[in-house]
Amino acid sequence: MKNVIITDHPLIQHKLTIMRKVDTGSKDFRELLTEITMLMGYEVTKDLPLVDVEIETPIQKMNSKILSGKKLAIVPILRAGIGMVDGFVSLIPAAKVGHIGLYRDPETHEPVEYYCKLPQDIGEREVLLVDPMLATGGSATAAIELLRAKGAKNIRMINLVAAPEGIEAVHAKYPDVDIYVAAVDEKLNDHKYIIPGLGDAGDRLFGTK
Ligand code: PRP
Ligand code: URA
Repeated sequence: MKNVIITDHPLIQHKLTIMRKVDTGSKDFRELLTEITMLMGYEVTKDLPLVDVEIETPIQKMNSKILSGKKLAIVPILRAGIGMVDGFVSLIPAAKVGHIGLYRDPETHEPVEYYCKLPQDIGEREVLLVDPMLATGGSATAAIELLRAKGAKNIRMINLVAAPEGIEAVHAKYPDVDIYVAAVDEKLNDHKYIIPGLGDAGDRLFGTK
């Protein structure tokens, strides 16, 4: 699969197994999602540019590296994407956070937009678009379309679990968007849920079912 980076470190796989289990409650689900986000963040941020700075250790002066100050924006797709914000913000505290509100219509499964607030300089930022689930890809493509319309040029998407159908749908429209994912599952069921998946991520995070 082109532009798909599977981040399947053993710690991620272990934690994802616990998240998938039907009897894992909201508290554990939330904590595990934050932990996995941070572990995925290691891979997602691997190519951030560095610059040399001169510092002084207790022993002597040296040239050492810091992040070059590349501007980032973390953009969760509401609601479930909120569960991946804390993990990224703790890794990259200088990042700005935008929000895109979309829900899937229960009948048509098409995304419905209800909110969009992005950093005003989104066009100058590398965007990390986050959502635990990539099912049909409808929400992801709608979010990318919105981001592009607001001027975002460089977008990478970070999902926990994806269906092959969702990856194909995103790349059919936006082949340049890299997708980082912890697991690619088998397929979608008749209700467009990922199987085996982990159920409805928003409901499990927020305890709404
Ligand atoms: C879920 C999920 C994604 C979307 C994926 O959100 O968090 O945003 O479905 O499905 P798709 O790829 O077929 O569009 P949902 O619409 O359930 O809203 P919620 O996060 O508010 O629960
Ligand atoms: N949204 C979810 O939360 N889970 C799925 O399996 C599909 C869409």
